[in-house]
Amino acid sequence: MLATVNTQSSSPLDRAVALCADEMQQVNACIHENLQSDIMMIPAIGHYIVNSGGKRFRPLLCLLVARLFGYQGERHIPLAVVVEFIHTASLLHDDVVDSSSQRRGAPSANGVWGNQASVLVGDYLFSRAFQMMVRDGDMVMLKLMADVTNALAEGEVLQLSRTFHLEMNEAECLEVIERKTAILFKAAAEVGAHAAGQPAAVVSAMAEFGMCLGVGFQLMDDVLDYLASEAEAGKPVGHDLEEGKITLPLIYAMQQDEELAACVQAIAERDGVYEADEREWVRERVVALGGIDFTMGKAEEYAARAKRLLPADGDDEVRALLAELADFSARRPF
Ligand code: FPP
Ligand code: MG
Repeated sequence: MLATVNTQSSSPLDRAVALCADEMQQVNACIHENLQSDIMMIPAIGHYIVNSGGKRFRPLLCLLVARLFGYQGERHIPLAVVVEFIHTASLLHDDVVDSSSQRRGAPSANGVWGNQASVLVGDYLFSRAFQMMVRDGDMVMLKLMADVTNALAEGEVLQLSRTFHLEMNEAECLEVIERKTAILFKAAAEVGAHAAGQPAAVVSAMAEFGMCLGVGFQLMDDVLDYLASEAEAGKPVGHDLEEGKITLPLIYAMQQDEELAACVQAIAERDGVYEADEREWVRERVVALGGIDFTMGKAEEYAARAKRLLPADGDDEVRALLAELADFSARRPF
């Protein structure tokens, strides 16, 4: 039976936002402050994408992990913004690379201002994030984020080099996911634990927690590309195959069915051009052959692994919320 996604009205994400409301206000103020520039296009595009209905999942994760360990300082606020800026920069670049015209249910920034403006404002946000880390003045943090952004860029290049790589296996697919998506969730949790002054073993367990949560999150993203309607996803769906992204639902389904594999091969030979009825056929085959159930099962395994990494001590309410967030990432409806 097809696994169902979580459609509860009050998601753990909403509850995390409510719990961290004061700090999230500071995060928003810090975002606003750091988007100031007399080059008007920078705050215009920056605000457009930052306020476009993103869930602020990564900064929240950073705040929650710091709160888990009872952190009372303020340093985690700009650091949470650093993670959000790098994420936002990567989305600005990604929509150009993927020729995507929609994000979060609205025209993407490149759809409104064009590719050049999107790439350049992405560069601005990326470099602003590094200015903020220099201001923070912690070489450990700077090294952490330098390594993370380098891995992120590497992950995207790896994905590009595997465009229409039909022999892609699960391990290769997970490698791309870890590098292109999970790494920023890892960074968010790691930064929160480090800012809260936790010992190295705890920081690294929290980093791994973020990584596992992030893998579950991206696996679900890959599921939604086959499962969700465009309105639910807030972006075009069925795009992964068109862009040559061979994701886990498809890998699993192709392994079960030669006819599907042959069809995907033909689509690859046409450089991803495929008709609406062919798209629907592929989607139905992926679902019927268990690609969605398999991938969601994998996402749940990552969520379970993430939960096992949570420490036994720390704030009980926050720990429970982090555990729910790990589950939610692997079963989210959007
Ligand atoms: C979304 O994936 C994209 C990412 C998770 C990462 C994009 C990263 C880059 C373009 C590298 C940028 C690097 C720096 C240093 C700024 P997706 O295309 O599968 O998901 P989508 O459907 O949401 O677009
Ligand atoms: Mg994309």
